Amino acid sequence: DDHPYDGPPADIGVIGGSGFYSFFDAPERVRVDTPFGAPSDDIVMGDVDGRRVAFLARHGQGHRYPPHLVNYRANLWALRSVGVRQVIAPCAVGSLRAEHTPGTLLVPDQVVDRTTGRASTVYDEVGPVVHVSFADPYCPQVRSALLDSTSTHFDRTVDGGTLVVIGGPRFSSRAESQWHQAAGWSVVGMTGMPEASIARELAMCFGTACLITDNDAGVEGGESVTHEEVMRVFADNIEHLKVALRETISRLPAPQSDDAATCPCRRVLDGQDLPIT
Ligand code: ADE
Repeated sequence: DDHPYDGPPADIGVIGGSGFYSFFDAPERVRVDTPFGAPSDDIVMGDVDGRRVAFLARHGQGHRYPPHLVNYRANLWALRSVGVRQVIAPCAVGSLRAEHTPGTLLVPDQVVDRTTGRASTVYDEVGPVVHVSFADPYCPQVRSALLDSTSTHFDRTVDGGTLVVIGGPRFSSRAESQWHQAAGWSVVGMTGMPEASIARELAMCFGTACLITDNDAGVEGGESVTHEEVMRVFADNIEHLKVALRETISRLPAPQSDDAATCPCRRVLDGQDLPIT
């Protein structure tokens, strides 16, 4: 029963990761369809501090979609279609450095995409060719709002670092993990890409908050990672993560403000022959 959303547009989108399936009790669930198929779940609309927020569970209810089967294009497209221009996307990650211990919240400023075989662009038809800049993959405004709010709610936060995204769903071998460490990367996850680059393709501001749930296999003291461990540490931290995200939302520049409208993320398609509106 697809019902087109005719309420007030959302300003901000939140994509909840593993162990993060709801953000507020709001009666309005919106089923959205997209040119790329259905998103992972209905979008739930709610209000946070006077902002209209659209929440989407990345893996769907009951964690139906593993990282490699998440329809990232549909998820971002669906959020955009209900008005979202700023996205906050928390995720669970493994640590690649002993000093970043489980429970630490890291806001990366770089990403390395080691996934393969995922549908990773919305511009895959013959037609106007779109190349977006991705030198700085994360929105500076979302990052700074995230850092300001998470630093008061987490004992340990890290400003910057590189998230390497593996295809999964298996975890890394010890040698892969040591290689990622030797490359100087900070944390490893399975969902950060192509989520971030598709958001950029849609000219949305996008930032991620990586909650470290385990030491990856190559880190000293790191044993074989298990899904149970990831879910347990995430569950231990979900409540203060939600509080921090509410504060992040209130700290983001209003979407119609000059600050938001002139953000480089929102301007990335300027001058290109844009196939979307
Ligand atoms: N998500 C949480 N922990 C992870 C790990 N060690 N590797 C990849 N993805 C993860």
